[in-house]
Amino acid sequence: MENKAPLKFEAPEHILVPLFVSGNSVNLEQALENLIETAKTPDGRLHLASVKFLPIVLEFTRCQISSSNHHLLILSLKLLRNLCAAEILNQNCFIEEDGVDVVARAFDSISFKTNSGDKVIEIVRFGLELLGNVCGGGEEHQAAVWFRLFPVVFEDIAGIREKKTSDVLSMVIYNCCNGSKDIMRQLCGVQGLQIVAEIVRTASRVVLREDWLFLLLDKLCLEESCFLPLFLSLTTPGDLEKNDHLKGTDEICTLETEFLLSSLCESFDEYGNKLNLSKEFALSVLRILKRVVKVVDFFWKPQSELPTSILAIDVLGYSINLLRNICKQDSLNIRIEESGTIINSLVASGLLDLLIGLLRELDPPSIIKKSIPQENTSMQLRVGPYIGFRRDVVAVIAYCLHGMEHVQDEIRQKDAILLLLQQCVTDEDDELLRKYGIWAVRNLLVGNKENQEIVAEMVIQGLDALPSNREPELV
Ligand SMILES: *[C@@H]1O[C@H](CO)[C@@H](O)[C@H](O)[C@H]1NC(C)=O
Ligand SMILES: *[C@@H]1O[C@H](CO)[C@@H](O)[C@H](O)[C@H]1NC(C)=O
Repeated sequence: MENKAPLKFEAPEHILVPLFVSGNSVNLEQALENLIETAKTPDGRLHLASVKFLPIVLEFTRCQISSSNHHLLILSLKLLRNLCAAEILNQNCFIEEDGVDVVARAFDSISFKTNSGDKVIEIVRFGLELLGNVCGGGEEHQAAVWFRLFPVVFEDIAGIREKKTSDVLSMVIYNCCNGSKDIMRQLCGVQGLQIVAEIVRTASRVVLREDWLFLLLDKLCLEESCFLPLFLSLTTPGDLEKNDHLKGTDEICTLETEFLLSSLCESFDEYGNKLNLSKEFALSVLRILKRVVKVVDFFWKPQSELPTSILAIDVLGYSINLLRNICKQDSLNIRIEESGTIINSLVASGLLDLLIGLLRELDPPSIIKKSIPQENTSMQLRVGPYIGFRRDVVAVIAYCLHGMEHVQDEIRQKDAILLLLQQCVTDEDDELLRKYGIWAVRNLLVGNKENQEIVAEMVIQGLDALPSNREPELV
């Protein structure tokens, strides 16, 4: 830090004097630090609002922009940020005094393409945090921020590959969109999604959790219908991902698409049934799954659960996991009249055919395998590309069957009853398989006489591997 160097006083006296007085120091820097502390508390912010202090700080900020004093610029942005935290008087004053323009000029004054040193990063970060706080003031504030910075300034900032700026950028964008249909529509356009794609590119390289980005992605993908366009804009791999051992991969399997799918999976874990899913989203995931099964090597001996180190397998696994969560939520929809509508669309688009096909192509679980006489044991087994694959496929089928009579019938018509029965076994690699298998068979039989008769027939014939019809304890 160079703050030992004597600072030139880069502002006229009518601005400096109130800073010294309210900041309780004749050292400018110290005065600013003191004010930053004061503005951390609601009382301090309110007091400074009541004496109309914010315009002085804004004026001071303008002076630092024109003199390129980055250190004082950082301090003044930090002070403004604190002043505008949850204090409507300051937020209003900031908009009235055209503070958004001041921040935009501060961003313009630094060139972050060529130089993203610490100071530049701090200016961007505090500037964005300030704008995020200002958005809390309401629709007018959100619009003021958005229309001044979208798309050019946001694009420039999104190009900085830094964790420190990318998550706050997500925060500002989220706060601008939250509750505003107009702004959301713009974000879902080509330019808007390009900005989000850039943020995802950064995030998929810095392996840290990015909460605001996750919130933004949930909104865009799960609730709005932007999932597919965003996904597709992430399919052109960046320079860093040209990885040689990605044999049999496809352009839909990039570091970024894997990141997007895995972060959406996490959202389901976290928000569960609070999500308001769109049908487009569900159908898009199915499209991706249909495409990725063509490029995954099913003879690959599974090394681990998800994530594996192979993008195509992860894209496959996360797509199946998303479908499982989608079907789970749809089948347990609180609004009874709507439950099953997404499952119906998925089934009509070939979900069951695909999943049953996948299960058929796998060798049966090892226990069943042992009970069937083998002609040739030296053949390579198809056991699925990752540990847990079989269970995940069975789980999707189980949720589709839940309370859905025509899906029960369809399984029978596709001659897949025995196939499902065979999944109800203990598998040494996957303890949950049995649980999901039993749940699937239960859902297959409940209230369906024809299915029950077929299974009874199999019992009489003494077929192996029939499950008990106990209710499983389910997660
Ligand atoms: C989005 O806006 C709503 C309503 O104004 C608010 O209650 C909610 O906290 C906001 N969400 C976030 C994450 O800030
Ligand atoms: C069994 O495997 C051996 C060697 O791998 C092969 O030569 C033979 O043709 C196979 N037999 C059958 C019935 O597949």
